[in-house]
This record gives sequence, C-alpha cells and structure tokens, in this order.
Amino acid sequence: MTDEFHVDCLVVDDQQSIRKLCSTIGKSLGFSCSEAESAEAALSMLDSVSPNIILVDLRMAQMSGLEFLAEVKKRSPHTEVAIMTGFGSIESAVQAMKLGAYDYVTKPFRVDEMKLVLQRMAEKVRLVAEIEYLRERFATETQLHGIVGTHARIQEILKMIARLKDTRTPVLITGESGTGKELVARAIHFRGMFSKRPFVAVDCGALVPSLIESELFGHERGAFTGAVREKQGLFPAANGGTIFLDEIGELPLDMQAKLLRVLQEKEVRPVGSNRSAHVDVRVIAATNRDLEKAYQEGTFRKDLYFRLNVVTVHLPSLREHKSDLPALAQWFLDRFAPDSGIQISNAALTAMMRYDWPGNVRELENCMERAIALGAGHEIGVADLPASLRGESTTETNTVLPASFPTTDLEELEKDTIQRVFDEVNGDKAMAGQLLGISRATLYRKIKRYEIKLRSDGSPLPPSVPES
Ligand SMILES: Nc1ncnc2c1ncn2[C@@H]1O[C@H](COP(=O)(O)OP(=O)(O)O)[C@@H](O)[C@H]1O
Ligand SMILES: [Mg+2]
Repeated sequence: MTDEFHVDCLVVDDQQSIRKLCSTIGKSLGFSCSEAESAEAALSMLDSVSPNIILVDLRMAQMSGLEFLAEVKKRSPHTEVAIMTGFGSIESAVQAMKLGAYDYVTKPFRVDEMKLVLQRMAEKVRLVAEIEYLRERFATETQLHGIVGTHARIQEILKMIARLKDTRTPVLITGESGTGKELVARAIHFRGMFSKRPFVAVDCGALVPSLIESELFGHERGAFTGAVREKQGLFPAANGGTIFLDEIGELPLDMQAKLLRVLQEKEVRPVGSNRSAHVDVRVIAATNRDLEKAYQEGTFRKDLYFRLNVVTVHLPSLREHKSDLPALAQWFLDRFAPDSGIQISNAALTAMMRYDWPGNVRELENCMERAIALGAGHEIGVADLPASLRGESTTETNTVLPASFPTTDLEELEKDTIQRVFDEVNGDKAMAGQLLGISRATLYRKIKRYEIKLRSDGSPLPPSVPES
C-alpha cells in the first residue's frame, strides 16, 4: 500500500508568497497542495480536503496558529501539523510542540530545510497509515476466523481449516470440552465456498434417546403417538450443507448403525415412511471422548469411527497453549467490554497463567465475563477472579484443615489466623502478607472484611485502603 499512498498538504499563511513557496516545495515532493489565507478558512476546508499534513503560520490576524493546531488535533489526530514561526517566537514554537505539532520551521527558511521537514512528516503519516491498515486487516481476519492464538498448535489448526474448508471430506474434531471444537467446525463451514448453504448443529448428547431418530431423519405424520404432523429431520435440513454432530460419542449404538447407513447410502428415510430421500451432507463430528478407546471397548462402532474420521483435527487444551492466554483474555475483554479501556492487572494475569484451566477457553471466557461484571474499576484485579484462581484457600488454610471443614468455621479460623499474625508482626502489613502468603490486595480485602485490628494496641483501619 506504500506505493499508492498519496499525501495531501494544506498550507495556511496570510502571506501569499509563503503559501506559493510552500506549495511549490510540496508539489516537487509529489504532494497535492491546497492553500488557505487564514486559520478560519483552513478549518472550513478541513471537511472537504482532509489533509495529511498541514503547514501553518504561527502569527495570523485572527485565530492564531496555536489555536488552530489545537482544533486540528482535536478533529483529526492523525493529521501532522508543522508550525512556521518568525525568529524570536521560539517559546510559542515549544508550546506548539507540546500541543502535538510535529515540528517547527523558523522563517525565513531555506527550501531544502522545508523540503526535509515535509518529507519527514510525510514519512510519519505513511507509517501511521500503514500500521493502521495492518491493524485493521489483522482485526478483520481474527474476527472472521474468531480463532485467537499464535501458538504453533493453533496455527496448525488454522492451516487445517484452510485446507478443509472447500472440501466435503468428513472431519472428526477431538479435544477437551471448551477447547473450541464447535468454533472450528463453524470456521470450516463458514469460511469455505459452501458457506451460503445450511449449517446444522446437533448436540447428540442432548437428544432424548427415543426421539433421536426422528430428530435426525424426520418423521411422517402419525408415525408414533404424538407425531401429529410431518416433521423434517435435521439431516434433510442440512441438505447441501454441513451437519455438525457434536458429542458424537454420546450417540447410542443402535443410532450409530442408522447414522452409518445414512452416510454410506446418502439417503434418509423419515420414521414411519417407506420412501427414502437423497441427502448430500458434509459431516463434521466432534467429541471429547477417546473414540478409539470407545470402539475397542465396544461402545462405539468401529466402522462409523472410520467413516467419520477421515481427517482428525485435535484441539489442544488451553494448558498446552497457555502462551495464547493473554491474547485470548484481551479478545474476550474487547468482546464483552468494547472500548472500555479496562486492563488486566499484572497480578491477575499472573494468577491466570498459573491456573491450569480444566474448562479450557470456555472457562476463561466465563472468567473474563464475570470479572468484567464484578470489577468496578478500570482494572481487573486478582480479587475479580474466581476463588479457584486466587489460590487463597490452598495457601493459607487447606494446609491446616481437612477439606470438608465448614465454610463459616473456616472463615472464623482465617480471621483468627490473620489477627494473630498481625499481632505477632506488630501490624506490619507487608510482613503479615508475606507470612500469610497472600497478595496485598487480598490482604486488604480480608482486613476490611474481618475488621482486623491493625496494631496490637487496637487502633482501627485507616478510612481508605488502596486496592493493590
Ligand atoms: N482459539 C479460540 N479463540 C477464540 N475463542 C475461542 C477459542 N477457542 C474457543 N473459543 C471460545 O470458547 C468457547 C468454547 O468453545 P466451543 O467451540 O464451544 O468449545 P467445545 O465445542 O470444544 O466445547 C466459545 O465461546 C468459543 O468461541
Ligand atoms: Mg461444544
């Protein structure tokens, strides 16, 4: 895009000779130049011209160059402004730099001097535009795929998706719960050339066993008690497109046989009907079970396993690509609280990195949603994380107590312990925190909650406590 980048320059000066000179220099650099004889005129031109670069005289009859600069920066922060000043008004030039001017040039200037300033400004504008462009492209790409992760294992999955998206090959997606199996299934369908065709997701684990067949293949009117009208099955509904059979490992054996037949013959027969209809459906199945073991144990049909498992995509647990955690957390933050500017504190991130996420990305997603809902401020702290991540109970109390100890007694004991430690260290918070093995934020919360007396002389907690 650098090659095509075009620079628009606006020269603002009440002296016509200066305007002409600057325009000529700008044009010699390949810029398009326009001129304004006052700040007011320049401002009214801004909407129609939208220059990348502005050269403005500091001293003009009405609105000064400084006021103009402030206004431009407010309206269009990416526009670079250079100030032209007469000798002797260097202080104003310094002030201009503080207001965001790119540079200043003292008048009278030499042509090559002005040329250099303009070139450097153009270069900066180009770079900023290029970064902006790349950032945007990156954002739309991840948005489109919705799959975040730079870890090699995730990149490998993205490559698999790219290879599979325009095919009709059956795919088996394996991985623990919450690792993104459905996300990948959708990506394979919706990124491919068949994306306009139907995508039907079926949770095999959630189907009532007695109704699975009619759900999948449909039924005739009166096929069984309660079948008051004809019903189209999920397979016919997915015709031409993709059926996503989630939790395929939960499908009962007799249904596995029926599914296999449909896949082999590409025909479905609704329950109660003696006519079959042709269906062309791409099957993507997913499971968090070890199907290989299941067929060896006889709970999953081997022939169906091989039919579904032409290509396997195995998703790593979050533990296995933890380096992606910060980006994933940021991704959910942007999704749940767009433009909020909320940040994750280092301590919270550290706690998140230490945790092993048995519920994988889904658990992280829930954790972020909860933290945003609970957290009041502009920072997600350790206190906003679920107890399992804070690891408090394990550090201070579990070592002392049997796991089944009732909560209220636990709290009582915790309070006594903290108070005792405080008394021992004479109210030294840092030392108490260290001895207790808890963070400062946690310590402060507990002091407040249990109304711990800070010194052995019983003086109370100061009115406002810092949070971290
Ligand atoms: N790599 C990833 N990038 C972004 N979001 C993800 C990623 N992996 C999983 N998710 C999100 O986590 C949640 C759980 O994913 P899902 O596909 O339902 O998992 P599974 O089907 O394996 O249980 C979804 O909201 C999904 O969008
Ligand atoms: Mg799922």
